[in-house]
Amino acid sequence: MTLLEVKGLVAGYGSGPDILRGIDLTLEAGQIQCIIGPNGAGKSTLLKVICGILKPRDGEVIFEGESITRLRPDQVLKKGICFVPQERSLFPHMTVGENLRMGGYALKNARETRKRIKEIYRQFPTLKQKRWQAANQLSGGQQQMLAMGRAMVLSPKIVLLDEPSLGLAPLIVEHIFEIVRQFKENGITVLMVEQNAHKGLEFADWGLVLDLGKNVFDGPADTILADPRIQELYLGTRRVQEGI
Ligand SMILES: Nc1ncnc2c1ncn2[C@@H]1O[C@H](COP(=O)(O)OP(=O)(O)O)[C@@H](O)[C@H]1O
Ligand SMILES: [Mg+2]
Repeated sequence: MTLLEVKGLVAGYGSGPDILRGIDLTLEAGQIQCIIGPNGAGKSTLLKVICGILKPRDGEVIFEGESITRLRPDQVLKKGICFVPQERSLFPHMTVGENLRMGGYALKNARETRKRIKEIYRQFPTLKQKRWQAANQLSGGQQQMLAMGRAMVLSPKIVLLDEPSLGLAPLIVEHIFEIVRQFKENGITVLMVEQNAHKGLEFADWGLVLDLGKNVFDGPADTILADPRIQELYLGTRRVQEGI
């Protein structure tokens, strides 16, 4: 079942040029879809339009068959689409527990929030152990875990993750992708952007390549990983093999 559809999306900032130049995307329920592409391709911009932070100049965002193109970010969140931005946007001076409770604020149901936070602590013992610590005292990986945990408290239908593994050590990256898989296991559909294209596609069902504001290729993640043209242009495989 198609959960989210993006059709002919055109967007840019202020009076600047078009950054997205006609993007199409289809996200199936239960899928992990990974968007890859060079720096500046418009990947983050696309997520910002989907979650309502940036209004598009043309095109449509359709969620469960209904247009959400003109909705505000809080309305999009209420529909069940939760955005975890690249900068994670935690409350730095609040504790881990408080950050999780802030995540649940939109639920307006204290008992349900408590139940879900308990479940998050069960899935992430590290967060439980650090629940009295301020978010800014956590390591980068723990902060990412907290940002993802906070999204999970809302139990959204779709989570949008922008570069969840950025700047993290390889061992931690592995852990972060396990959490991405946990979203899927909890029945949450994932649309993520990853600069770590290999790893992202390894964990994804579907891949989409974005370049110069357009979708240039999409297909099953393993097909994309194995495609020699995509390897050469977007995965840097050839360069590694040639030792450049
Ligand atoms: N807030 C902004 N104001 C103006 N231009 C922006 C802003 N954010 C991003 N851009 C520009 O949009 C283009 C695409 O950026 P972005 O979507 O962040 O790319 P990606 O996430 O693929 O690296 C870049 O040229 C960037 O400079
Ligand atoms: Mg980006």
